Amino acid sequence: MCGIIGYTGNKDAGPMLLESLKKMEYRGYDSAGFGILHGGALRVMKDAGRIAEIARKVGISDEKGNTGIAHTRWATHGGVSQNNAHPHVSCDASIAVVHNGIIENYQELSSQLKAEGHRFASETDTEVIAHLLEKHYREGNHLKAFQETAKQLKGTFAFLALFDDKPGLILGARKDAPLIIGVGKGGNFIASDIVSFIEQTDRVVFLKDYEIASITANKIEVFTFDGEPVEFAPTHVAWEASDISKKEFAHYTLKEINEQARTLSAALDQDEEKINEFCITIKNAKNTIITASGTSFHAGMLMRYLLAKFAKIHAQSILASEIDQEIDLVEKDTLVIAISQSGETADVIGAVRKAASRGASVISIVNTAGSSLTRESKITLYINCGPEIGVAATKSFTSQLAIIYDIVFRLAGLEEKRAQLRDLSKHVEIILSQDTSIREIAKRYKITSDFYFIGRGLHFPIALEGALKMKELSYIHAEGLAAGELKHGTLALVDAGTPVIAINPGDETYDETLNNIAEMKARGATIIAVTDKQNQLYNDVIEIPAVDSVFFPILEVIPLQMLAYYAAVERTLDPDYPRHLAKSVTVK
Ligand code: M6R
Repeated sequence: MCGIIGYTGNKDAGPMLLESLKKMEYRGYDSAGFGILHGGALRVMKDAGRIAEIARKVGISDEKGNTGIAHTRWATHGGVSQNNAHPHVSCDASIAVVHNGIIENYQELSSQLKAEGHRFASETDTEVIAHLLEKHYREGNHLKAFQETAKQLKGTFAFLALFDDKPGLILGARKDAPLIIGVGKGGNFIASDIVSFIEQTDRVVFLKDYEIASITANKIEVFTFDGEPVEFAPTHVAWEASDISKKEFAHYTLKEINEQARTLSAALDQDEEKINEFCITIKNAKNTIITASGTSFHAGMLMRYLLAKFAKIHAQSILASEIDQEIDLVEKDTLVIAISQSGETADVIGAVRKAASRGASVISIVNTAGSSLTRESKITLYINCGPEIGVAATKSFTSQLAIIYDIVFRLAGLEEKRAQLRDLSKHVEIILSQDTSIREIAKRYKITSDFYFIGRGLHFPIALEGALKMKELSYIHAEGLAAGELKHGTLALVDAGTPVIAINPGDETYDETLNNIAEMKARGATIIAVTDKQNQLYNDVIEIPAVDSVFFPILEVIPLQMLAYYAAVERTLDPDYPRHLAKSVTVK
C-alpha cells in the first residue's frame, strides 16, 4: 500500500525522489520521508502529512547527495506520526530502511532485538528491518546482512536500504510485494511502482519473490536470498510518460473518466491466439470461479451474469477475501479467473495461491504488466488502459468490462455483438458531454447523508459499483441494491427526499424496476434515473444513449463515476486521494 523508491546516479537524489514520490502518492499519503547519502553522511527527513508539504518543510529540493530512498505511507502498524514515518534507522543511524508490506513476526523479532540492546524509536513493524541489518552487518558485507535479514522476515515485503559506509549503493529485497528496477542513463531506480520513474526510463527489471537487488549508478546485480547471482534482462514497458500527466484536467480521476472512449477500444486490441486460448480454457473448465476485490469484483459479477446469459456457462463469483469459505471445493479441474487492475491486491494473490495449491488453474485479467498476479497465471489478458492514478477505479473498470464482453461474445459465437462492442466509444463521448448537467445534479444532492443505487439483472453490479464510487469519493453513505430486494428490508429506510439512483434503461428489466421505483416514490423518495427512456416518476434524468441492451452496463457506469467525482468536488474533497484509502491494497 505504501510507495517506495530509490535512486542512485549522477543527479541530486532529493529532487529526483520528490518527483517520483509524488507520482506514487496514490499508494498511500498519510506520511512521507527521505533518506539521502552525501559525503559519507546519511540524512533522514520525514514527517506526517502530504508529500509536497513535507518536502517543502525539509527542503528536499536543495538537498545534496546522489543516492537516496523515499517512502509514502499508508499506515498499518503504528499511528500517523513523524516517528512512525519511514525511513527507519538502526540504533547508530548508519542504516536507513523504507518498506512496503507487513512484517508478521515483528513482535517476536523486536523482543529479541530489544533484549540484545537495540533501541526502537517507532511503533512500526518496519523498524525491525533496520535493526536486523545492523545486527547482521559485518564490515564491507552489505549483501550478506541483507540476505540474513530477508531470510528472518515473515510476511509480505519489499524494502530498500542505504548504508552510510557505502555511498552510491541501494539494496532492495522482495517477497510478495512489488519491486521493480528502472534501468536509466546515468542512474538507476528501484521502486514499488513503474509510474514513479517512467518519465526517466521505460526499461525495467521485474524482481521476483526471494530476490535481492544491488544497485549503483552504473551497475545492477540480482541475487537470491541465498546469495546466488540471478540472470536478468531488462524489458520495455508500454506505458508512456505522458500517461501519468494530468493534462488539462483538474484531477487524475476526471482525466481517467474522460479517457474511456479511447481505453475501451484499447482493451479490445488483444493477441488473437492468446484470447482464443483464454476462451478455450473457460470452455473446457469443469468448474469456474471468478475472484477479485472491490471494483474488479463488480466486473467479475457481471462476467458471471454474462457467461450464464449468453455463453450458457456457469461460474461462481467469490470475493477474494472470502475464498476460504469455499476453498475445499476447489479441485484439480477448477478454473480460477482472477481480475485485478493492479495485479498486486493481497487478497487476490492470496486467493489464487490457495486455489493453485489445490491444483486449480489460474488465468487473469490485469492492467499492470509484470505484476504478481501475472506470475501466478497460466494466461493473462491485459486491459491496456495505461496507468490509473486516481485511487477510485474508473477506466480500468470499463476496460475490464470490454474484455469480458469480448470473451463472452466469442464463447457464445456472437460476432455481430463483437462488432457493436468496437463501436461503443462514440456513445461514451455523448455521455461525457453531459458533464455540466451531471455536475448540477451532484451539486443539488451534495448535502444528502445517504444515496441508494438500484438496478436489476446486469444493472445490479453497476448499482454496487455506483455506490462504491459515491462512498469512496464523496464520503456520502451509499448502498447498492438489486432493485427487487428493496421490499425485503431496505425500503424501511426510504423517507421523504431520500435520493435514489435508479439504473433503469429500456430493456427486459425496465418494467419490474419501474415498479420498485414507484414503491420508493410512494414513500417520498427522489428518483434520479440513469436511462434512455423517460418516465414521469423521475425527478432527474441522466440520459444514456439507446444502444443494444446488453451494452447498457458499460455506458451507465460512466455517469455514476462522474456523479461521484462531482459530489466530491462540490464537497471540496480531493477525489484523487480519498481518506484512509490507497490504490493498490497489498495487505490483507
Ligand atoms: O487493483 P485491484 O483491481 O485488484 O483493486 C481492487 C480494489 O482494491 C479496487 O477496485 C478498489 O475497490 C477501488 N479503489 C475502488 O474504486
